[in-house]
Amino acid sequence: MKTRKLEFLESVVIRELIPEDVKWVVSCQQDLYSSNFPRAKITKRFLHSQEEWIQEHFNLGQRSAFFIAHRGRENIGFIWGKVFDNLLEGFEGMVLQNYVSRPWRSKGVGRKLVIKLEEFFKKHAVNKISLNVTLDNDSALFLYKSCGFMPVRYEMEKRFDMQQDKEKGID
Ligand SMILES: CC(C)(COP(=O)(O)OP(=O)(O)OC[C@H]1O[C@@H](n2cnc3c(N)ncnc32)[C@H](O)[C@@H]1OP(=O)(O)O)[C@@H](O)C(=O)NCCC(=O)NCCS
Repeated sequence: MKTRKLEFLESVVIRELIPEDVKWVVSCQQDLYSSNFPRAKITKRFLHSQEEWIQEHFNLGQRSAFFIAHRGRENIGFIWGKVFDNLLEGFEGMVLQNYVSRPWRSKGVGRKLVIKLEEFFKKHAVNKISLNVTLDNDSALFLYKSCGFMPVRYEMEKRFDMQQDKEKGID
């Protein structure tokens, strides 16, 4: 007997992005970015630049794959990846964006999207896939680790406390 999760996942169709989806993808950017950058200020200008960036997918041909997870009449998730020549190790696939709408999370949609993108990368002679994920984004870390991704380098940041500097009289 099929489990409910399997039945649900079978009802999720993964298809390519069409221009009519772009507005919906842009409407998810606020949630996507605030999950990874809690201090982010999502402005109209930022969303406009995201829309332009996403539209670039349609000009990149076989170097870009953008898949939508669709169920019934509703878009419920997406994944975007690009192939590039990293010069050191040949062709590399990069996951640029991966998102599942909140009500549909933890049901396997994120994993289904990752698997679809991996299939695309394999067909395009990619020998490794990379992505960036924020250290406290537990759901994304769990998903990627369970799909076989391993951390290979740290990206480090140091924040300046302007207010404290001002109080100490440091210009
Ligand atoms: C990250 C994200 C795409 C994952 O999508 P999802 O559909 O919830 O992921 P899945 O259900 O396929 O998760 C895969 C596995 O992780 C598990 N999982 C998901 N969230 C988890 C959590 N918070 N803690 C523990 N396990 C978790 C699932 O149970 C599943 O395990 P299983 O297949 O063994 O049952 C989704 O949380 C999201 O859109 N987050 C906001 C945007 C974002 O951060 N994107 C990633 C940027 S790099």
